[in-house]
Amino acid sequence: MAAACGPSYLSPLLQLILFGLSNQMVVQFTEENTVAFKHLFLKDYTDDSDRTYAVYTQNDVYDYLYYAVEQYISLPNQTTARYAYTHSTNQSALSVCQRYYRKGHIDPANDTFNIDPKVITDCVYTDPMEATHPYRNFTIKFHKLINITIQFQLKAINIQTIINNEIPDCYTFTITILFDNQAHSGRIKIQLDNDVTIKECKDPSVYGRGDNHSRLAFDVIVIISCILSFILCARSILRGLKLQSEFATFVQTRHSLTVSISDRLEFVNGWYLLLIISDLLTVSGTILKIGIESKTFASYDVCSILLGTSTLLVWVGVIRYLSFFQKYNILIVTLRVALPNVIRFCCCAAVIYLGYCFCGWIVLGPYHVKFRSLSMVSECLFSLINGDDMFVTFSEMQNSSYLVWMFSQLYLYTFISLFIYMVLSLFIALITGAYETIKFQNAGEENVSALHQYIAECKDSPSSGKFRSAGSASCSMLCCCAKLTQDDEDQVIIN
Ligand SMILES: *[C@@H]1O[C@H](CO)[C@@H](O)[C@H](O)[C@H]1NC(C)=O
Ligand SMILES: *[C@@H]1O[C@H](CO)[C@@H](O)[C@H](O)[C@H]1NC(C)=O
Ligand SMILES: *[C@@H]1O[C@H](CO)[C@@H](O)[C@H](O)[C@H]1NC(C)=O
Ligand SMILES: *[C@@H]1O[C@H](CO)[C@@H](O)[C@H](O)[C@H]1NC(C)=O
Ligand SMILES: *[C@@H]1O[C@H](CO)[C@@H](O)[C@H](O)[C@H]1NC(C)=O
Ligand SMILES: *[C@@H]1O[C@H](CO)[C@@H](O)[C@H](O)[C@H]1NC(C)=O
Repeated sequence: MAAACGPSYLSPLLQLILFGLSNQMVVQFTEENTVAFKHLFLKDYTDDSDRTYAVYTQNDVYDYLYYAVEQYISLPNQTTARYAYTHSTNQSALSVCQRYYRKGHIDPANDTFNIDPKVITDCVYTDPMEATHPYRNFTIKFHKLINITIQFQLKAINIQTIINNEIPDCYTFTITILFDNQAHSGRIKIQLDNDVTIKECKDPSVYGRGDNHSRLAFDVIVIISCILSFILCARSILRGLKLQSEFATFVQTRHSLTVSISDRLEFVNGWYLLLIISDLLTVSGTILKIGIESKTFASYDVCSILLGTSTLLVWVGVIRYLSFFQKYNILIVTLRVALPNVIRFCCCAAVIYLGYCFCGWIVLGPYHVKFRSLSMVSECLFSLINGDDMFVTFSEMQNSSYLVWMFSQLYLYTFISLFIYMVLSLFIALITGAYETIKFQNAGEENVSALHQYIAECKDSPSSGKFRSAGSASCSMLCCCAKLTQDDEDQVIIN
C-alpha cells in the first residue's frame, strides 16, 4: 500500500482567509465603537489622552460624572450611529455606584488613622425616559472613596458584514466608566471599558441575498478532508511503529543486537506528526468557526489561534518536499544537527538571563518604565541583546538616585557585554559549527548509522518483486528492505 498521507494545503488557508475577513470586521466594529464611546461620554477626551486621562478636583469629578450621564440621556440626539438603550438587571438602564470604606478617618496632622476596610457600595439608578434624575443628589465621600462606576448597556447592529455575504450581527455593548481612586493620591484616573456580546439578530432580512449554506458546506468539506488526512497519517505512523518493533525483534534474534534510540526514531516520520497536529487544529478551528457563524460561541481569538497555527504547520511542512533535494536540505539538516547543543546552551544562558531579569525588576523597576513588570524587563533585555535602543535605556537612568544610577551602569554594561559578546557569539558559533560539520560530511565520507548501512546492503530494486506490497509498489523516503533467505521472514512493510 502506498504511504498515502497527503496534507490539504489549501483548505486551512482558505478557511483562515474567510475567518480572517469576518474577524477583522468584528474587531474593527468593536474598536471603533469603543473610541466613539470615549469621545461621547468622556469630557474633553482626545485620542492621545488615554494614559493621562484623570481629574484632580472635587468639582471636576462631579462635572465629568454629570457629563457622562447627560450625554447618555441625550444620546439619540448626539450620536451619528444607531444605538438603542437597553435595561440590564434591576430594570434601570444606568447605574452610578460609589464604593468606599465603611469608616475612613485619616488625619495626617497627628499621624493617625482609623479605617474599617469593609467596602460599602452605594448606587443610584436612572432611566433616560424618566423626568427626574436622582444622580444630581449623589454625594461622593471623597476622603474614603475607592472607586465610582457608571454602567449601562447599548445595542447596535453591525451591518457592514453584508459585504461578506454574511447576515449582520446584533451587538450589546456593556460600558463601564470607572473613576479609580484606589491610590488615594489626589489623582482620580478615568477609564472606559467596553464589553461586547454578539448575538444572532432575531428577524434578519437582507434584500436579494441567500443564506449561509455554501459556507457551511465548505466547512464540512474541510472537516472531512482533514479527518481523512488525519486517518491516513495516523495509519502511516502506526505502520512505522509496527515495522520498528518487527525490525527490533529481527535484529535481536538474528544478530543479537539492540537497536539504538536514534535508529528507532528513524521509523517515525516527523512530518506526519506535524500533519496530524495540523489536522487536529484545523478540525477544532473549523468547528469553532461554525459555532461562531451560527452565533453560538464568540471565541474569535481561540478560533484564530487554532486556524493560524494549523496553517503555519501545514506550510512549514512544505519544506519536506524541498528536503528531497540535497541542496535545499541545509536548513533542516543544520537544525537537526545543531539542536541538541543549542538546547543545552540555551538552558545555561536562560539561568543567567533570569537572574538579570529578577535583579533588574527589583532594583530598577521603580525608576525606569522599561523595568516595571517582569515581562517588560524580559522584553527590554531581549531587545537589548539584539541591539535595540541601548542609548535610550542608559540615558533614562539619569533621573534616578545616585546609588541606583551607579548600579544601573554596572548592570547594563555587564549584561550587554556578557550577552552580546559571549552568549550571542557562542550561539552563532554553535550553528556555524553544525553547518561546517554537514558540509564536511557531504564532501567526504558520510557518517552513516548502522541502520542505513544495513539498508544499503539491499541491492534489490523496488520493482524486483521481492517485496510483499501487493498493490502499488510506491516507496517513500525510508525504503526498508531486508535480504532474507527464510520465506516466513519475507515480510517487508513499506512505510
Ligand atoms: C432631542 O432633540 C429634540 C429637539 O431638539 C428635543 O425635543 C428632545 O427632547 C431631545 N431629546 C433628548 C433625549 O434630549
Ligand atoms: C437591585 O436593586 C435593589 C434595590 O433597588 C438592590 O438592593 C439590589 O442590590 C440590586 N441588584 C443589583 C444586581 O444591582
Ligand atoms: C488629632 O488632632 C486633631 C486636631 O488637630 C484632634 O481633634 C484629634 O482628636 C486628634 N486625634 C487623635 C487621635 O489624637
Ligand atoms: C434631591 O435633593 C432635593 C433637595 O435636596 C430634593 O428636593 C429632591 O427630592 C432630591 N431628589 C431625589 C431624586 O432624591
Ligand atoms: C471598585 O472597588 C472595589 C473595591 O475595592 C473592587 O472590588 C472593584 O473591582 C472596583 N471596580 C472596578 C471596576 O475596578
Ligand atoms: C528627568 O527629570 C527632568 C525634570 O526633573 C525631566 O524634565 C526630564 O525629562 C527627565 N528625564 C528623563 C529621561 O526622564
